[in-house]
Formats: sequence, structure tokens, C-alpha cells
Amino acid sequence: MKAIVAVDENWAIGNKGQLLFRISADLKRFKELTMGRPVVLGRKTLATFPGGRPLPGRRNLILSRDPGFRVEGGEVFSDISALLREEIDDAIVIGGGSIYKELLKLCDTVYVTKVFASCEADTWFPDLDADPAWEVTRTEPVMEENGLQFQYVTYGRRGL
Ligand SMILES: NC(=O)c1ccc[n+]([C@@H]2O[C@H](COP(=O)([O-])OP(=O)(O)OC[C@H]3O[C@@H](n4cnc5c(N)ncnc54)[C@H](OP(=O)(O)O)[C@@H]3O)[C@@H](O)[C@H]2O)c1
Repeated sequence: MKAIVAVDENWAIGNKGQLLFRISADLKRFKELTMGRPVVLGRKTLATFPGGRPLPGRRNLILSRDPGFRVEGGEVFSDISALLREEIDDAIVIGGGSIYKELLKLCDTVYVTKVFASCEADTWFPDLDADPAWEVTRTEPVMEENGLQFQYVTYGRRGL
């Protein structure tokens, strides 16, 4: 499995249920990297999508402990082991904080968008720079949109 995330300088990813940034180049890249693949997400991240609807063109595997939770166009799983019974080697974890934490150990690659800003936040991604299990495998040039600088950095699990 892989994961994709946008972080600030402190690995913050969200505040009050919302994303920290809207960078259109990054949204386009997110679409390119996820289109046609199963995406794994938490129920709270689903709630941030337009109309609370699953992402089109992708199999949406949604985690929720609420046994009554259903959403058209999405498949709901009540725990990780139920999710892992699916054929999801090619899946990409798209958040949020709790789902990244629970599934990172099963990921071999993380596509990180590092945004050079420091934001007020209540949700974080694990700091991969501080984790010896991970190494940077690809760094792209710094880009800028609306005065915000950002960079795509790919991390791979060390020793694979
Ligand atoms: N920067 C980024 O790239 C990025 C990407 C995605 C999200 N985000 C941000 O992250 C924040 C949301 O993260 P979050 O951690 O609060 O919520 P989340 O991970 O999106 O969803 C949490 C919910 O997922 C369900 N869940 C979690 N673990 C589960 C398990 N083991 N089994 C079954 N269900 C499980 C529960 O749903 P129930 O409550 O229904 O039981 C839980 O309340 C938002 O601010 C969002 O904007 C940022």
C-alpha cells in the first residue's frame, strides 16, 4: 500500500476537520496519483469532500466504527482487519490522521507534499524525517502557487 499526504513544516495535516491548504497543482497531482486505484480513508475525511461524497473514478474504502454508516458509491469497513481481507495491494491511503497512523506500517511508499508554512493544526502525520524506517527516495524542485512554496518528496521504506 501507499499513502499520499500534504504536510506543513511540522507535519501538520488538518485543523478543525479541514485541510490546511488548497494548492490546485497539488490537487491535480493527487488526482493523477489516485485515479483508477482504490483509496482508503476515514469517515471524517470523507465528510470533507464536496457533498460528503466518495471520490469519483476510484474505489472508496471507508473506515467507520458506526455499524449504521452507509454511503452511496463507497464501501464501508468497521475495522482494519475487515479492510485487509480485500485485495488492496494497489490501494493508496488518503487520510486522515487516524487512518495514516493505523496504516502507515503497511505502506511502502509515501507521496508527501511539503508546504513551507507553519499552520495552526489539530491533526498531524508521523514525522518521517525522524523515523529511521523511512528514507527520501525522490525530491522534486520547489514550486510556488499564490505565494505558497511547496515541494513533492517521496519517501520509501528503508531496506526494501
Ligand atoms: N493534509 C492531508 O493530506 C490530509 C488528508 C486527509 C485528511 N486530512 C485532514 O485530516 C483531518 C481528519 O483526520 P482525523 O484523524 O480527524 O479523521 P479520519 O482519520 O479521516 O477519520 C476518523 C474516523 O475514521 C474511522 N476510523 C478510524 N480508525 C478506524 C478503525 N480502526 N476502524 C474503523 N473505523 C475507524 C472512525 O469513524 P467513525 O467516527 O464513523 O467511527 C473515525 O472517527 C481533517 O482535518 C482533514 O482535513 C488531511
